[in-house]
Amino acid sequence: MTSNTRTVLHPFDLDAIAQHEGRLVLFADHGAALPRAARRVDRMTRGAVARATASEAFAALKPGEGMTLAWPSGLKAQAVQIIRMPARKPAPQNLRKAGVTIGKAQGDQPALICADTLPLREMVQFALLRAYRYQAQKSDPKPDFGPFHLMMRDPDAAAAQIADAEAMARAVHLTRDLVNAPANILTTSSFASQIEGMQALGLKIEVLDEAQLQDLGLRALLAVGQGSDSPSKLAILHWQGAEGPPLAVVGKGVMFDTGGISLKPGAGMEDMTMDMGGAAVTVGLMQALAERRARAHVVGLVGLVENMPDARAQRPGDVVKSLKGDMIEVINTDAEGRLVLADVLWYAQDRFKPRAVIDLATLTGAIIIALGHDKAGVFANDDALAADFLTAADAVGEGAWRMPLDPCYDTLIKSRIADIKNTGGRPAGSITAAQFLQRFVQPETPWIHLDIAGVTLTKSDSAHAPKGASGWGVLALDALIRAKFEDS
Ligand code: BES
Ligand code: MN
Ligand code: ZN
Repeated sequence: MTSNTRTVLHPFDLDAIAQHEGRLVLFADHGAALPRAARRVDRMTRGAVARATASEAFAALKPGEGMTLAWPSGLKAQAVQIIRMPARKPAPQNLRKAGVTIGKAQGDQPALICADTLPLREMVQFALLRAYRYQAQKSDPKPDFGPFHLMMRDPDAAAAQIADAEAMARAVHLTRDLVNAPANILTTSSFASQIEGMQALGLKIEVLDEAQLQDLGLRALLAVGQGSDSPSKLAILHWQGAEGPPLAVVGKGVMFDTGGISLKPGAGMEDMTMDMGGAAVTVGLMQALAERRARAHVVGLVGLVENMPDARAQRPGDVVKSLKGDMIEVINTDAEGRLVLADVLWYAQDRFKPRAVIDLATLTGAIIIALGHDKAGVFANDDALAADFLTAADAVGEGAWRMPLDPCYDTLIKSRIADIKNTGGRPAGSITAAQFLQRFVQPETPWIHLDIAGVTLTKSDSAHAPKGASGWGVLALDALIRAKFEDS
């Protein structure tokens, strides 16, 4: 929708370098012999590349960073971008960094990346991830990004890997589009319709409406949406690429969070369009699994509601009965995400008997105080699953940090009149939220809760995204599934 960036594969061809009219991307290192593409361009520009790479400015670059020479004489290209890259065994994080540098420089012109023998999969994926902008709400959108032409020694051998990188980038872009979309455009109903459209990819989709949720007893979820004109929904995306019990991925989908009767302050409230970030990651991940025909069994469940103040809205002090049967005292209607998740988590376990559950939610402001915008909070009842997730997140460059769960925090959320209350005050706000959720997870089910409030929408560029929606989590969960939930 917003970032129609493509890749085109080419065999290595020195003449094509001379004829390319957009941007040329070369790789070189300071104090090392130029690789053959750079050597060729150096000759055509009468030594400009060698002078650039010998300069102090180039020596000051870190691997993966680059320098651009504009309108080089002797070439048809508009610019030559030289990326600093050690010729021998480039580290994955340097290849990712190079991809981000290339993606950031991309405009509407094509880029010819003269990779030759450099491994391209990660670099291309990160170039595609970085070359993103959300323009759906502009009356006069900029032209699409130009394609990335990839020149390499063996294009046939790389084709499948590049297609995989493109599928992953499309999935992350989908998540970002959903998070960036305003709440008057992306409502519970339009989101559910968009999910229904994903049937075309081979996913099995079910959307439960309010009447069905009422019959089933998801009253905590329904209580959150009862002050909104948008009907609450539960969407289920089923990808059965293998036999056996599924992994369940559960996402918080609060289309907009005003706080409800416990209304949020006005300043910055507009950011609460991102409160469906957990659902957006779930949907992006399910698209990735379907597109790459993953040999894994995964069910995605997203609770879609809007938290509004209204005559019918729930009040502070109300008590609601959850699907599990536990009675919840709603102290603060702004602690709504955990009410939605309590019911969706229970429904997921009750119906699918999953081998593990992972939930994602923009759940607490407190996780931003604890970890900032670079790492998501990881809460888990299973050390092995937590370690596997942290390894996967690290491998794709997404920040994550383990946080504690401990029954000692339960006293903070004990209710005088019901079984549990939905807030525990300011101390350990993210942990009490996680303790609340844990009550709705069967102890023998391995479970991770990811509090993504800090990483979902960023005010400055993040590892692989321009400022705005990051899509954090799609790559990490996909990597976890490849490593631990997929038949090979
Ligand atoms: N959606 C918010 C959490 C949030 C805050 C996400 C900032 C992204 C950025 C959540 O529903 C919320 O309002 N949480 C409250 C909980 C409190 C009332 C116990 C919070 O964090 O203040
Ligand atoms: Mn809230
Ligand atoms: Zn919220």
